[in-house]
Amino acid sequence: MKDAGDKISSITAYDASFAHLFDEAGMHAMLVGDSLGMVLQGHSDTLPVTIEDIAYHTQCVRRGATKTLLIADMPFMSYASEQQAYMNAAKLMQAGANMVKVEGGDWLFSTIQGLVERSVPVCGHLGLTPQSVNVFGGFKVQGRDDKQAKEMIAHAKQLELAGVQLLVLECIPNELAKAITDALTIPVIGIGAGNVTDGQILVMHDALGVSFGKMPKFSRNFLAQTGDISKAIQLYMSEVSAGNFPGDEHSFK
Ligand code: KIV
Repeated sequence: MKDAGDKISSITAYDASFAHLFDEAGMHAMLVGDSLGMVLQGHSDTLPVTIEDIAYHTQCVRRGATKTLLIADMPFMSYASEQQAYMNAAKLMQAGANMVKVEGGDWLFSTIQGLVERSVPVCGHLGLTPQSVNVFGGFKVQGRDDKQAKEMIAHAKQLELAGVQLLVLECIPNELAKAITDALTIPVIGIGAGNVTDGQILVMHDALGVSFGKMPKFSRNFLAQTGDISKAIQLYMSEVSAGNFPGDEHSFK
């Protein structure tokens, strides 16, 4: 799809019923995100999520969605060492995932290489990586200064070299997202990274306007416009495909 210039649509999913609906709509990929710690469990960040939580929800989603590319998040500290990463990735692949996602840059180089050598496809995640919220001092846009931007481009190239087959960029300026997307041959999907990436991902609760608290700037309530969940998901996909979502108002400078 990247080579053809076709935009990729993806969304988080945590249960069989929504996953089935997204699958029927033709969603290109689904993520069992550790965002479940916030939107399902009500925590203020993703740190309390365990590998057992992700494995359980991956099983649920896989039962509902048989067609989609299913990515499962490796939660906080579940890939702190290579051995841990292998054992925990196995749990998610055995639960039905096709790929696991890890947050971070070049410190993960040999872990990613080891996973790929052991037949585990890997998705990277750079920018506002929520597992590092305590290092960032809050959920803040990343990569705004020149030094940070250059470092992020270098990390992205290292991740591709290590073997990641997909990269998520979260909450970074459009210009930086474009530089990274252009620099890589693998597909790059964004959340709060403008419409310059190869595709988009949203947390399903944000896309349907059911998250409690403030709606993130980068999201849009597709249910409000349609009044029907299937139609909302189709609208999300068609707006991504047409390059209409995200607009300037959802993006960062
Ligand atoms: O956990 C999650 O839902 C994510 C997305 C925001 C990309 O990592």
